Amino acid sequence: KTADVAKGKQIAEQVCAACHGADGNSVASANPTLAGQHPAYLYAQLQAFKAGVRKNPIMMGMAAPLSEDDMRNVAAYFGSQSVKPREASDKSQMDLGRQIYRSGNPLTRVPACMACHGPAGKGIPVQFPRLGSQHAAYVLKQLNDFKAGTERKNQTMAEIASRMSDAEMKAVAEYISGL
Ligand code: HEM
Ligand code: HEM
Repeated sequence: KTADVAKGKQIAEQVCAACHGADGNSVASANPTLAGQHPAYLYAQLQAFKAGVRKNPIMMGMAAPLSEDDMRNVAAYFGSQSVKPREASDKSQMDLGRQIYRSGNPLTRVPACMACHGPAGKGIPVQFPRLGSQHAAYVLKQLNDFKAGTERKNQTMAEIASRMSDAEMKAVAEYISGL
């Protein structure tokens, strides 16, 4: 069944725009940009919020009233919007950030992020989300959430985050925000 982008746009404008922007480019750094994200990934996250598997209190409330079709439609709408490219705000983090993103840290067995998220941060549909131009503060929170395993569980990302230092997470989050 194909998604109805026009119906998705309606939901986005009425419910999600306040935090994620009407076109999916959010302003506040705690709210992720959804524009250009793979629809299958957005849909899977909405299902996880609705099922209470990804335990973010705000988004659990937002996903609760959405039907399967609503989630598919709104995911298709945000995925079809284009990301506004941004620049990293803290340029001092670029060298370490780029190194982690492109090469990982062989000493602590942190893999290169680009292996799964792509050299330009576009991700690889269906499984691997796009990261490019995402807010650094949001990315950093996700890495800490994966490491802690309480709000958000994902085995691959939990193992990777648990091997990273705070400095590495901060630097790679800054680098990603400018990708
Ligand atoms: C995260 C969709 C409404 C605040 C997310 C994510 C999706 C999403 C798919 C996960 C993104 C990712 O993993 O990259 C939606 C939809 C909405 C909606 C479809 C409307 C039906 C809102 C509203 C707010 C909000 C109104 C603010 C009151 C947030 C926050 C996060 C988030 C803070 C990050 C959660 C975390 O830290 O894990 N949203 N959202 N959202 N959303 Fe929404
Ligand atoms: C999700 C960062 C390496 C697979 C994510 C997210 C972030 C992230 C921030 C959440 C995106 C969002 O909420 O929108 C990183 C960083 C890496 C790295 C900084 C390098 C240090 C990898 C590698 C793989 C991978 C090497 C594959 C082996 C995934 C998958 C998800 C994900 C499957 C989706 C998890 C889910 O469905 O909840 N990554 N990643 N990542 N990453 Fe990575």
